[in-house]
Amino acid sequence: MIFVTGGCGFIGSNFILQWFENCNEELLNIDKLTYAGNPENLSSTQANPLYKFVKMDITSADDLKMLFLKHKPRAVVHFAAESHVDRSISGPFEFIHTNIIGTFQLLEETRRYWGQLDANYQKNFRFLHVSTDEVFGSLTAEEPAFSEKTAYAPNSPYSASKASSDHLVRAYFHTYKLPTVTSNCSNNYGSYQFPEKLIPLCILNALQNKNLTIYGDGTNVRDWLYVTDHCHALRLILEKGRPGETYNVGGLNEMKNIEVVDALCKILDDLRPRKDGKSYLELKTFVRDRPGHDQRYAINADKIMHELDWKPQESFATGLSKTVNWYLQNENWIANVTSGAYQEWIQKNYGDRT
Ligand code: NAD
Ligand code: DAU
Repeated sequence: MIFVTGGCGFIGSNFILQWFENCNEELLNIDKLTYAGNPENLSSTQANPLYKFVKMDITSADDLKMLFLKHKPRAVVHFAAESHVDRSISGPFEFIHTNIIGTFQLLEETRRYWGQLDANYQKNFRFLHVSTDEVFGSLTAEEPAFSEKTAYAPNSPYSASKASSDHLVRAYFHTYKLPTVTSNCSNNYGSYQFPEKLIPLCILNALQNKNLTIYGDGTNVRDWLYVTDHCHALRLILEKGRPGETYNVGGLNEMKNIEVVDALCKILDDLRPRKDGKSYLELKTFVRDRPGHDQRYAINADKIMHELDWKPQESFATGLSKTVNWYLQNENWIANVTSGAYQEWIQKNYGDRT
């Protein structure tokens, strides 16, 4: 079997759904179920005898040790993390705890278990660390896209914590020969994304006639990748990626935030016109910028495209349209994730921003 950490989050749950569409192998999902973890994302897999779930914190070494002894996985795919930049600015502790200490404990327990395997199992074992392009820092408009050789220069507590975890993963390969592989991916979007991130937040706000909050002047650039394309890349890296290597994954789709919000508004105008006949574009509101806001991310994905024959299947137009449709069709999911603590976060982050 394989272990997946953080499988109840956005990318992890898409990965698990895609896993069972393509593979006939057991999978154990290890998730602490923070505010971002939602078992409802995986309700369609509950009856699958190949799917197993344990509610657990990856910082707990004893619990991890027990799981490795009991299940003897052939691979670990590590998604579990605190993932939202704005939350890392208002409260960095959990990011240090889960992203650095959690990854360290997971690496340690993986190493302990892996060290007892016979040579052939050791060789075929993989630890796939799912990381981000934010570790490379910020680009100007003229600079070339991030490659696997770009120096790390993280600027937020989130990206610094992910950079630390990447370094630990690298060190475990070099020092202990644990067969690790790391992916550094750009901004994902798609179904099941928690509505604190730009795209789902704007969809939900638009549907409630609330302001679409754009930080600064809206010219910051991100490279958007549809989540199932990322999951496909991860499955390829898991099976064919070379130990000790890192792979950049991106959508070949750089856009200014303002362009993303405009595109969303136009799709919504089409699919769910406002009752007053006005365009959703009128809800756009520029608000105080995110501190230390990275100006531009861009990914050079040549390595994974050439070495593993991967390329994104969705264009931004098709991916965004699927995403908006998914949110329109899943009102119950939205209602369940936006009660209680979610409202407190929205008040904390946006309350005095305009
Ligand atoms: P998410 O916030 O939606 O989900 C994180 C999951 O991890 C949740 O299910 C949560 O319950 C779980 N978790 C958190 N702390 C835990 C702990 N201590 N022990 C066990 N489980 C814990 O995140 P996401 O957007 O799905 O991102 C998944 C991974 O991919 C992260 O490592 C992130 O850094 C990376 N990544 C995300 C993006 C993106 O655009 N979202 C892009 C590139 C890389
Ligand atoms: O690049 C990969 C990263 O992408 C992942 O590692 C992170 O886990 C993921 O959260 C994402 O980080 P960003 O900070 O780029 O994503 P977010 O959706 O928060 O913001 C996207 C852009 O939109 C960013 O420039 C900030 C801006 N923004 C965001 C929000 C929430 C706004 O203008 N208004 C908003 O209300």
